[in-house]
Amino acid sequence: MVFSVRKITANDCESLSCLPEKDTVAVLDETLKNHFKAAMRVDSSLTRQMVSFQANKVKPTYRWYKYKEAFSSTLVKRFLSDLNVKTGKVLDPFSGAGTTLFKASEMGFNAVGIELLPIGYEITISKLIGYGPNKYDILNLLRTWKETKPWKRVTERIPFNVLRITQGAYSDETLNSIQKYLKCVSKEDEDIQTFLKFVLLCILESISFTRKDGQYLRWDYRSNRRKGKNEFNKGNILDFDTAILKKFSDIIEDIDDEFHNNDLFSNRNSNHPGSIDIINESCLNILPSLPNENFEAIITSPPYCNRYDYTRTYALELAMLGVDERQLVDLRQNMLSCTVENRAKELLSFSPEWKKAIGVCDNLQLLQAIIEQLEEKKKLRQLNNNGISRMVKGYFYEMACVIQECYRVLKTNGRFIMVNDNVRYAGTCISVDLILSKIAEELGFTVSQILVLPQHKGNSSQQMAQHGKEDLRKGVYIWEKH
Ligand SMILES: C[S@@+](CC[C@H](N)C(=O)[O-])C[C@H]1O[C@@H](n2cnc3c(N)ncnc32)[C@H](O)[C@@H]1O
Repeated sequence: MVFSVRKITANDCESLSCLPEKDTVAVLDETLKNHFKAAMRVDSSLTRQMVSFQANKVKPTYRWYKYKEAFSSTLVKRFLSDLNVKTGKVLDPFSGAGTTLFKASEMGFNAVGIELLPIGYEITISKLIGYGPNKYDILNLLRTWKETKPWKRVTERIPFNVLRITQGAYSDETLNSIQKYLKCVSKEDEDIQTFLKFVLLCILESISFTRKDGQYLRWDYRSNRRKGKNEFNKGNILDFDTAILKKFSDIIEDIDDEFHNNDLFSNRNSNHPGSIDIINESCLNILPSLPNENFEAIITSPPYCNRYDYTRTYALELAMLGVDERQLVDLRQNMLSCTVENRAKELLSFSPEWKKAIGVCDNLQLLQAIIEQLEEKKKLRQLNNNGISRMVKGYFYEMACVIQECYRVLKTNGRFIMVNDNVRYAGTCISVDLILSKIAEELGFTVSQILVLPQHKGNSSQQMAQHGKEDLRKGVYIWEKH
């Protein structure tokens, strides 16, 4: 008997629709992996600490607010140091707590950030205030408040906004202290008020019955919301005074150090700090209005395609910042699609130019095979949420539009550096690194490196039990505009 054996190539993929769906995705994935073989490598210097907030925990200023989804300033420094230029402009369209902005400024670049959530915006402007013209007043006031604890001597209280999902987050005693603290804050000048409210935002989770947990807020068994068998114990819940006094001490220490270094931020390696501009809006709205060829580099980490709902995990902070129920829903919808609740966005209403990015996605075989496979799994009731396929589609189509704009606003020879994770739903592995890089390539970028962390991301126990173990790559992608 004679067998004919032939290797499958990219061109064959079109005709593979006769294979079971899963194989189509796997084959197309392998083909794309081969396509980027020269750019892909495991980089042992990239640690989890570097691509997450962990390394910031002990760094002056960066440690004030624990923005769990942040990357480290070390990562920003590493990739900015690789540029051929030492000045110019850097953009982060998903700027979060502003890690890119502050590090880029330290290094002498002018930085522009776009951040939709009021919490990210508030962290950024508060840090700017903390090191701005009012820094002496702030330092003196923090020292005085640390000694005198004025909130203990007032009787008046200022109530604050509560959302359905934050109801009952604090003990009565803590609630009382927060409201008295807010009363004391209200007597100060505007910038100082902003800064003092920011200090409160920094401690909210630690004094509450909640813990941020990706898709939602987890409630401690001591709250009156959590009853039943699977009781969650978040450990030590700090009392208000302990938490706020510790935060005052950290901030005083960091601003003090900065005085002694006679510098805006410690560890500066440029004598000319760059400016920082932050825009509190969706980058989908803002990017089309930015001029062409304006930035030397873009360093960013968009939300991952992982169902994490920032509007739920940051609900305590958003409520404190006055976000109401309606605004919360709007924020969730305006975010880059990364939750199962996101409805499809009318992308051409943001810019008619995005026809190009949409076309790239329509023609990307791996992406279309994944969407089809997820739709199939939805019909077979294999997905634990019906919104997953819509979310995945929305994620890549919206990211394609962001990438198209980033290409336009980058200068020639500029670099786009992105941190992101691959994901998996009901056994379908989604190579976010390959798909976004292919989109970038189709939109004009040269994909120079796809750096993979040696330590991959684990799977949920549910996925492992049902679909076996599959390592998910975490990575940093470097695309260049030539
Ligand atoms: C992974 S975090 C970025 C963290 C950032 N690299 C840092 O170090 O703090 C992604 C950020 O994108 C923001 N975001 C989501 N959708 C957005 C949109 N449409 N426009 C602007 N920002 C958005 C989220 O609120 C979140 O802060």
